[in-house]
Amino acid sequence: MAERRQPIQIDSAMLQHYIEALGSIGRQAGGGIVRPVYSAAWVQARGQLAAWMRAAGLDVREDSVGNLFGRLRGVDDSRTILTGSHLDTVPLGGKFDGTLGILSGLVALRALREQAGQPLRSLEVVALCEEEGSRFQAHYWGTRGMLGLIGADELERLRDDRGMTIAKAMRAVGLSPERYHEAVRRDLDAFIELHIEQGRILFDERVDLGIVQAIVGLQHQWVTVKGRADHAGTTPMHLRRDALQGAAQMAVEITRLVEQDGRPAVVTLGKWEVKPGAVNVIPDEVSFSIDLRHPEEEIKRRLATAIRDRCQAIARERGLVVSSEITSDSPPSSMDAALQAILISSAEACGASWRAMPSGAGHDSQEMARHLPTAMLFVPSVEGRSHSAAEYTTQEDAARGATVLATALHQLAY
Ligand code: GLV
Ligand code: MN
Ligand code: MN
Repeated sequence: MAERRQPIQIDSAMLQHYIEALGSIGRQAGGGIVRPVYSAAWVQARGQLAAWMRAAGLDVREDSVGNLFGRLRGVDDSRTILTGSHLDTVPLGGKFDGTLGILSGLVALRALREQAGQPLRSLEVVALCEEEGSRFQAHYWGTRGMLGLIGADELERLRDDRGMTIAKAMRAVGLSPERYHEAVRRDLDAFIELHIEQGRILFDERVDLGIVQAIVGLQHQWVTVKGRADHAGTTPMHLRRDALQGAAQMAVEITRLVEQDGRPAVVTLGKWEVKPGAVNVIPDEVSFSIDLRHPEEEIKRRLATAIRDRCQAIARERGLVVSSEITSDSPPSSMDAALQAILISSAEACGASWRAMPSGAGHDSQEMARHLPTAMLFVPSVEGRSHSAAEYTTQEDAARGATVLATALHQLAY
């Protein structure tokens, strides 16, 4: 590991330009970004990134699931230190979530190539795909491709809202889904992901950086409540089997159960479908999502069971039928202690204040950490806003994060 007297100087103006330029791809009228995996906006953003990677002197390639890589070859090119994050956004998301990790890695590798020359081990920056699961509910798809965790059945089973399979969407952007297993990597020694905090701890405490210790456990469910469609004007209230009234009561009860458990348990019911969806027809089928998070797996499971039991009881009381499918389930994940120590010493070498903290948001790192040494560096989110167009990190904070990332990569690869 090489110590370095002069910190690596990243180009803050270039980082800022990249953030703005990438943030304009997929941007909607209100400012939010829509850039789901394998969409036209995603293809355009990836093309732009590839051009910037080439300009930085990196070797560029994509893998069989659509992850994009820029590589700075080491003296020993057989092993890799990987950095980066995801390129896809939530619907109407902000320009920092995921993107900042890719762009910080890109300017860090550029600065390292120019200021420190060839590393001993290869360094690589990656733009990962479908972390958010916004299009196919295929969370951490790019990361799972690299770790060999994609199931062959997913290719034809996972569909977007318009019914298109993920295999078809991959073909539409020139990928060959049947070659998904070729994305597997066996050369990775470490993964370091820089990300915005997406909460307000660093902002409120005026701390420069967060060193993530662990990422919360997260379960997603898709709940379907079935009742009976009837006439809105002629069916007395006591004779209805209204799927929406049942689902609404479930929503109130789920929220109450989790609130009763107290912090840090959180639950969100963010997506709803009501059928047949007419003003004068009693809804006969309602589906909604549950996003349940807790840093302790046992408590997450206990809450999930309590939610399921309560929903079944409500369905019985109202003559409805409820079913639920677990669409994603990740236990809590711990970050690598040695890599955390390198991030801390890098922060201190750059004169940045830091604190250890958990992540309430899900990240590619939580999957990576189960297979290789992984660590995360958080930069402050102004007022903690994220997953919205209001997401913002100052130029100074972004540049500081990228500088510390570059310093840590230097320690690891030179
Ligand atoms: C990803 O951003 C998540 O935490 O849902
Ligand atoms: Mn996100
Ligand atoms: Mn993210």
